[in-house]
Amino acid sequence: MRESRYKAAIIGTGGISKAHAGALAAHADRVELVAAVDIDGDRARDFADQHGVPQTFTDPEVMLARVQPDIVHVCTPPGLHAEQSVAAMEAGAWVLCEKPLCASLAEMDRIEAGEAATGNYTSSVFQWRFGSGGRHLKELMRKEAMGRLLVANVLTTWYRGDPYFAVRWRSTWKAAVGGCTVVHGIHIMDFALWLIGEWREIRAMMATLAHDIEVENVSMASVRFEDGVMASFSNSILSPRQESVLRLDFADATVEMTRNIYTYGNQDWSYSTWEGSPHADAVKEWGSLPPNVPASHVTQVGSFLDSRDRNERPEVSGADIRGTIEFLTAFYKSAVEGRPVHRGEIRPGDPWYRLMNGQFQLLDEAAA
Ligand SMILES: NC(=O)c1ccc[n+]([C@@H]2O[C@H](COP(=O)([O-])OP(=O)(O)OC[C@H]3O[C@@H](n4cnc5c(N)ncnc54)[C@H](O)[C@@H]3O)[C@@H](O)[C@H]2O)c1
Repeated sequence: MRESRYKAAIIGTGGISKAHAGALAAHADRVELVAAVDIDGDRARDFADQHGVPQTFTDPEVMLARVQPDIVHVCTPPGLHAEQSVAAMEAGAWVLCEKPLCASLAEMDRIEAGEAATGNYTSSVFQWRFGSGGRHLKELMRKEAMGRLLVANVLTTWYRGDPYFAVRWRSTWKAAVGGCTVVHGIHIMDFALWLIGEWREIRAMMATLAHDIEVENVSMASVRFEDGVMASFSNSILSPRQESVLRLDFADATVEMTRNIYTYGNQDWSYSTWEGSPHADAVKEWGSLPPNVPASHVTQVGSFLDSRDRNERPEVSGADIRGTIEFLTAFYKSAVEGRPVHRGEIRPGDPWYRLMNGQFQLLDEAAA
């Protein structure tokens, strides 16, 4: 660990910034939150008062020039993420950016080019990858302990009503990039992709069934993976009783993570097998989890600081996140074009490379 503390800044002091401030406070021996930025100056000052932050700004560029932070947390609406992350890396910082990391594969390439040019890194927040339950399962899967994975069911059934959409950007393609697919289901879908591996083909549908919003509030897809696994992904923000569910059926056991919404702990996992199975004893062993580490911003920030100390690429960056951005783009492309999309087909030259949600007129308007 280095002797002095890192200087961190937060850009965007709305809803999720509190989780970042809390995570930084949990690692206060290693990092100090020295600046907060929001285009709404009053909001930045309120946030600073609550979290003991000495300086506030309304312009990220001014903050980067004056403060020269070691680490920047980007907590603004998704349409701004790539631009602000690249600017922070160019100013010398490592970046921890909220999900979705960016709005297109083109922006993903810009971020990776920014990393190569500066030697700094941008990591995407995906706190679900950092809990003990997920780490334990990934290790069992690496060892193929439970036999082949055959079937996966991945469910986000959340509720977002009028108060949520009263914040205008959340309902627009341009600022939010999308709805239940890229803003809400993204957590457990990224988690499932991280566990399962390379997908091959996706067939998707989506709709906006309620509320006066541009973006989708229900989306569903069938996905075939490279090794043959068949998976179903279902995202809704129209579901009054909220739940997130991951169910993986291996040859010898079923693993389920359920009953939680935004995160999970060891208590949310169950391992089982069929009645009379010869794996009854083994399943007890597989289901014995290590000490509980919740999937949280605190855990991911700790891992990010470890990588910074070692000057090594942090988890959930570069190739480790590109696959999720490609999957989300393919999800929208399949839903809009009404046909299967294969991994690898969206490349520079394909209009979908420019914008994952397919709202190309936004780019054309911007260029006009
Ligand atoms: N990881 C999670 O569990 C989680 C949970 C909720 C939200 N998020 C993500 O966090 C991000 C922010 O979501 P939120 O709900 O906190 O939004 P929010 O609207 O509550 O906050 C965003 C803030 O950014 C500010 N802002 C807008 N443009 C800016 C600019 N150019 N420069 C500086 N500040 C600017 C706004 O004034 C606002 O205060 C989104 O990408 C969202 O998907 C992640």
